[in-house]
Amino acid sequence: MISLAVNETIARAVEVLRENDHGDYTIPTKGLYPFQWNWDSCLTALGLAHYDEARAWTEIETLFAHQWPDGMVPHIVFHVLNDSYFPGPEVWRTNRPTATSGITQPAVAGFAVRRLFDRAKDKKLAAERARALLPKIDAWHRWFYENRDPRGEGLVAIIHPWESGRDNSIDWDDAFERVPTEGVEPYTRRDTLHADPAHRPTKAQYDRYLWLLQHFRALGWDNAKLHDASPFQIVDPGFNAILIRSAADLADLAETLGEMEIAKANRARAEKGLLAMERLWSDAHGQYLCLDRVIGKLVDSASVGGILPVFSAIPKPRIAAIAATIERIAGKARYIVPSHDLDDPRFDAKRYWRGPVWLVVNYMIADGLAASGHTQVAQRITRSSVDLIAESGFAEYYDPLSGEPLGGGRFTWTAAMVIEFLKSER
Ligand code: GLC
Repeated sequence: MISLAVNETIARAVEVLRENDHGDYTIPTKGLYPFQWNWDSCLTALGLAHYDEARAWTEIETLFAHQWPDGMVPHIVFHVLNDSYFPGPEVWRTNRPTATSGITQPAVAGFAVRRLFDRAKDKKLAAERARALLPKIDAWHRWFYENRDPRGEGLVAIIHPWESGRDNSIDWDDAFERVPTEGVEPYTRRDTLHADPAHRPTKAQYDRYLWLLQHFRALGWDNAKLHDASPFQIVDPGFNAILIRSAADLADLAETLGEMEIAKANRARAEKGLLAMERLWSDAHGQYLCLDRVIGKLVDSASVGGILPVFSAIPKPRIAAIAATIERIAGKARYIVPSHDLDDPRFDAKRYWRGPVWLVVNYMIADGLAASGHTQVAQRITRSSVDLIAESGFAEYYDPLSGEPLGGGRFTWTAAMVIEFLKSER
């Protein structure tokens, strides 16, 4: 791509970010997601930093201003009233000063803050803002291991599919058989007004999302109880890898800033997590798999959640095996990395996390591969991502076979990732 076109694409991406900017936080996209989402914001901050470093720090600070007293950082902050999204605050009823959801999302903040700090032109500002965020992110990490790893296994479980960020992945299908639907209050979905229902989760899945929500609400959102009380406890390798990477990055940053206690605690979390991750490896699939903690078995489902661990410091042979798996997949898909293996009969090219390509996931996979010397595969992923934007615009996700844009449009974190891909490519 010639540089003029690159500059133009970056300018268009910045336009999307500005459109969705609400002053001190950004929304993922108008209509479909009109509030602040946790991991969207952290990754979006990386894009914002390319043209406004102070604004990028604010994005993450706003999220952490709504951290719960127990340390959890909620997956949605409902800053304003807006009835275009369901389930809203009147369903969650979490009793927070500003309404939030009652579950969390992938802990990418530690990674994002370190990257903002490392790249900062204004080092004084960065040190000040990072220093204030350090104990908050550390508290979130501690919360994870205390509440989601109650037996100290080294890996945390998600208790609701929305926590994974991969809402309707095939990974959850078997465990969802255990989640009842009796007693789910009547509801009207809003997502299907903004996006094609064929690209979204099904009603059967929504019933179960809501059953879990009501179950946790009935327990008063008391995190000390929720894990053991949930019929859905999944150890997702991608989710854990993000937490492990963030813990390692937070440790490095804390060391630089002289916060040795925080550094030590996070280093220990990362090391323990990496050792425990071995239990999730599958030779047959050449990637990691989810563990269903309720029954103690690996889930036979080759999703991108098991490829994402290259984002953390897993053993070199594991990274090489995953790089080979991606190359095998690239032989079948026009665009990589699909959210599910195309050989699986359950693969669905258009339905959300059951097949489509997501640029945020591509970004983290490419980052890990490049850092460990697999530059060719990393570049292939970057190229696929940039091609998708050129052909299909800033969509929420894309069909890996046709490149068709899917879900919401003018999507914030997609735009942020494009800026990241293009700026680091030069
Ligand atoms: C969907 C995605 C999730 C994302 C949210 C807002 O729920 O699955 O990962 O954070 O939308 O973009």
